[in-house]
Amino acid sequence: MIGRRKIGNILWIAIHPDLRRRGIASALVAECLRILSEQEASLIFVSVEGDNLPAFALFEKNGFKRMSSKELRREFGLRVMSLYNKLLIAPHEVVFVRSRNDLDAPSPSKSNQPS
Ligand SMILES: CC(C)(COP(=O)(O)OP(=O)(O)OC[C@H]1O[C@@H](n2cnc3c(N)ncnc32)[C@H](O)[C@@H]1OP(=O)(O)O)[C@@H](O)C(=O)NCCC(=O)NCCS
Repeated sequence: MIGRRKIGNILWIAIHPDLRRRGIASALVAECLRILSEQEASLIFVSVEGDNLPAFALFEKNGFKRMSSKELRREFGLRVMSLYNKLLIAPHEVVFVRSRNDLDAPSPSKSNQPS
């Protein structure tokens, strides 16, 4: 909880190098979103190292938007420090967020699932 808002956090997803680009991480993200939505998280966060371009692409493709520290401060005010603690965020990491409101929207990754 941050104030009265229930938040969810995806801590870490890693796929074996031999199995990448097959939609496995996207399927895991979709399952995390489903579970966190069931638990009524209103916002779902993930923090990613600032130079991790594959992870940026993964989360953007799955409906997450990058949120700057200024935007986070505007959204959470003084509670932003509590948010950073919960995300276990390091200074060089970038925050991505997806709101629960758009969880019902079709996921861009669905066409990317292995058949
Ligand atoms: C980031 C990571 C989890 C992606 O796993 P994955 O199973 O390959 O991801 P997906 O196949 O679901 O990819 C979904 C989309 O993400 C993007 N993407 C994934 N890897 C990418 C790469 N190396 N370069 C550019 N875009 C990439 C693509 O848009 C991809 O869709 P496409 O294959 O149709 O183009 C994987 O590279 C990894 O384990 N990295 C090391 C651990 C890590 O950095 N975790 C993220 C921090 S939580």
